[in-house]
Amino acid sequence: MAREFSTVGVVGLGTMGAGIVEVFARNGIDVLAVEISESALERGRATLTGSTDRAVAKGKLAEADRDALHERVRFAVGLDALHSVDLVIEAVPEHLDLKQRIFAELDRVCRPDTILATNTSSLSVTEISVATTRPNQVIGIHFFNPAPVMKLVEVVRTVVTAPEVVADVEALCARLGKVDVTINDRAGFIANALLFGYLNHAVGMFESHYATREDIDAAMKLGCGLPMGPLALMDLIGLDTAYEILDTMYRRGGRDRRHAPVPLLKQMVTAGLLGRKSGRGFYTYQRPGSPVVVPDEATPPATEAALADGARAIAKVGVVGSGTMATGIIEVFAKAGYEVVSVTRGAEKSAAVCEAVKTSLNKGVVRGKLAEADRDAALGRISWSATLDHLADVDLVVEAVVEELSVKKALFASLDEICKPGVVLATTTSSLPVIDVAMATQRPADVVGLHFFNPAPVMPLVEVVRTIRTSPEATATARAVCAALGKTGVVCGDRSGFIVNALLFPYLNDAVKMLEASYSTADDIDHAMKLGCGYPMGPFELLDVVGLDVSLAIQRELYLELREPGFAPAPLLEHLVTAGYLGRKTRRGFRDHSHR
Ligand SMILES: NC(=O)c1ccc[n+]([C@@H]2O[C@H](COP(=O)([O-])OP(=O)(O)OC[C@H]3O[C@@H](n4cnc5c(N)ncnc54)[C@H](O)[C@@H]3O)[C@@H](O)[C@H]2O)c1
Repeated sequence: MAREFSTVGVVGLGTMGAGIVEVFARNGIDVLAVEISESALERGRATLTGSTDRAVAKGKLAEADRDALHERVRFAVGLDALHSVDLVIEAVPEHLDLKQRIFAELDRVCRPDTILATNTSSLSVTEISVATTRPNQVIGIHFFNPAPVMKLVEVVRTVVTAPEVVADVEALCARLGKVDVTINDRAGFIANALLFGYLNHAVGMFESHYATREDIDAAMKLGCGLPMGPLALMDLIGLDTAYEILDTMYRRGGRDRRHAPVPLLKQMVTAGLLGRKSGRGFYTYQRPGSPVVVPDEATPPATEAALADGARAIAKVGVVGSGTMATGIIEVFAKAGYEVVSVTRGAEKSAAVCEAVKTSLNKGVVRGKLAEADRDAALGRISWSATLDHLADVDLVVEAVVEELSVKKALFASLDEICKPGVVLATTTSSLPVIDVAMATQRPADVVGLHFFNPAPVMPLVEVVRTIRTSPEATATARAVCAALGKTGVVCGDRSGFIVNALLFPYLNDAVKMLEASYSTADDIDHAMKLGCGYPMGPFELLDVVGLDVSLAIQRELYLELREPGFAPAPLLEHLVTAGYLGRKTRRGFRDHSHR
């Protein structure tokens, strides 16, 4: 029989604590909510009221249920009020000495059988537990932000946590409607260990002006389907909390430089820019605690005219190549009203590409997304050629040939001879330096990267890569073209992986390393990222879809260019590729897909 928890205490009513109070009270459990002062208590109460009022306004909570929820919560200043609760969850700032002091005090105040839990994200639960005389009754219960919404709870057992305490807490999580993964005490547990390297890297990109905050966030939302971009997520977490988590993970987790907090973070925390809770972080919010972003001095102009400032007029576009990407890109341009010249290496290839474009457009017609007349008009705008000479009068060329530098360089040298002056020359490379391609021409200022995602007609994102020689006009032209295609163009520097792959693949690689270290299972890691962070797929699901060979190649490129030891490909990934387990395409990767 699992233990009955009728009253729980929550210590600290900040970003997490207020949400945790709501989770318990919503599920019929009485809560004693404790803060350090009357004013902090008032703030916590206001957070709880704001959150439940929003739930009522959205129709997710009945008014009567909200009132009942509030009746279950009592507020008090100081820990003494917690003398007869069954369980305490501590959610005070991420400092070991503070948490140890609170646990020593809780040990003194609470009944001998009370379970003491910490919501720490990165500190050692074991170190916290030894501040008490009952380390076997101390456990980590790590909720995710926002606690009322996110389904995951990481239950952290130390080497001395009693098995029945673990079982009781697991049963409690089920009662709260949460999915738990139970793991050992290691810095960052599952989700934060995989998340924070990525978040810190994104802050580094912003700090070095590699891309704007809007573009970094849009890239990860649109390129990976994440619920929010990394900088918006840092604002939600709270920059002070994020700083402490990174700092602890750096010290506890083997001094991986990727966890050393980017200096800008410390500066922002010192300046009081803590994210949503203080009304300003990477973005500016309507008021402290508000989720509504308001424009500030860094907000880019919204109008298309401003976007197109300095852009050259584009009417006719050449697309070189006959693969998946070229085919999709031809369709995208033709559908958007551009005249398209497709150049392949022969009539046979042109016929195949033409057929593929027709099939794809027909699918749009069958699904009712495209009128027959629009399909015919799009097809009528495409001309098919096997010679680059037909690109003499286009305004933009998009190259999508094989991913080999020598081939691309030779092609760009030819384009340089054939194309009229002022043409923007774009490469769709996903891994080669754009500057290498640009320098094969006499006009590097006109060369950009246009990194489309697969499938091009569906994916809403394009990375616009500017090299150190790219002119502002060429960049503006590329961005305006993306907008005209109905895509979001994000501008970034010419570094391996651009934005999306540079942020995505090291995270996937870290997940493989975590599996390899037997810290958790592929299923639990996938669960943790989906339910704790709202990812559409877990890392192992995604690796099997993308292909392990492709993932390994990208990770190797990143490692070779940035020489970051933490980017070294996981040996397990290399072994699976060597063994021919490449993911869904070979019916086996991290999982066996042969029966599906
Ligand atoms: N922010 C997140 O996204 C997130 C997610 C999961 C876990 N956590 C963890 O939850 C914990 C709390 O983080 P947060 O972001 O909610 O912090 P926060 O700064 O928003 O809130 C901390 C609260 O603790 C109160 N407090 C400080 N000293 C206290 C004391 N002695 N007694 C009672 N209350 C006290 C503060 O007044 C404040 O309201 C940390 O361990 C953090 O790592 C945070």
